[in-house]
Amino acid sequence: MAHGRITGWASNLPEQVLTNDELASMVDTSDEWITARTGIKTRHIGGKVTEMSTRAAADAMAMAGVTADQIDLLILATTTPDQQMPASASVIQDNLGLTCGAFDLNAACSGFVYGLVTAMQFIEGGLERVLLIGSDALSPVVNWEDRGTCIIFGDGAGAIVLERSADQPSLLGWDLMSNGDAADLLYCDHGDKIVMLGKEVFRKAVLAMESASLNAMERAGVNAEDITLVIPHQANVRIIETSLKRLGIPFEKAAMVLEHTGNTSAASIPLALVDALNQNRVNTGDLILMVGFGAGMSSAAAVVRWDPPQN
Ligand code: ACO
Repeated sequence: MAHGRITGWASNLPEQVLTNDELASMVDTSDEWITARTGIKTRHIGGKVTEMSTRAAADAMAMAGVTADQIDLLILATTTPDQQMPASASVIQDNLGLTCGAFDLNAACSGFVYGLVTAMQFIEGGLERVLLIGSDALSPVVNWEDRGTCIIFGDGAGAIVLERSADQPSLLGWDLMSNGDAADLLYCDHGDKIVMLGKEVFRKAVLAMESASLNAMERAGVNAEDITLVIPHQANVRIIETSLKRLGIPFEKAAMVLEHTGNTSAASIPLALVDALNQNRVNTGDLILMVGFGAGMSSAAAVVRWDPPQN
């Protein structure tokens, strides 16, 4: 149970859009196949983590009405930092003029939920405001000759401002997991491109989404029927449909952006969250289930009670 209210949110996508038809001119695939097997129509590419993150974070801070000196910690969830070192978080910190600690957190596509749980612990520990960003630029590490991977990945960033709240707790339950024995199913060596055994990842992803969600809901003391909105990792619409069916949650409750973003790894949950909040899909007291999985194989879920910003 933790008391951290989300008071600002924003996202950023690079300008360049790559369509399925364009991909079909690069590898042996088609718009019909990609749409039917993944749900993805377009994705944004050509992004840089520090640039996308800085823009998303600046907008989220403006929305929350907080100044640079009020942020106590910056956490950047990413698996594609711009450089081996320094941490991209340090570059973003400087771009934003923050005067606080900053670090990168790598849990692949589960990174944003890992970051949310981590940020909440810092708030419980006494910090007032934490800036949490999920951002990945996968286009530079995609093998554009491999039709099994290049069709699903894209670039993006999403950011939230979390502020300490005296009200009832907002993080009600969570689950973090890593199954390193499956690490060879999805990896990217230094200086190389992404390698993925898609079918195996798909199978494990469905089970990981289900188990992480069930654990988080059990710890929160809630059931599937209590969940108002699910923010699933945006990897493949069929993974989301199958997992939600197993959980007994109607697909209509899922926030979906992958049709125009593809799989943006650590950015995918905040991109979907920001989209849902901007569409006013959440009301005071609603329960949001965020759930992700990814390379590692990592998985993470969190049940959050929506406690709107008080202006
Ligand atoms: N276009 C046309 N045909 C294709 C394509 C393509 N782009 N890709 C594969 N195929 C073919 C295969 O060659 C195969 O043909 P065959 O039957 O003649 O051998 C057939 O389609 C089926 O291939 P599968 O690999 O079984 O296709 P699948 O339905 O599993 O879809 C996909 C592939 C989309 C990659 C899917 O497996 C998937 O989404 N996996 C999960 C990926 C994922 O979630 N990754 C998240 C990790 S995120 C992170 O941590 C960075």
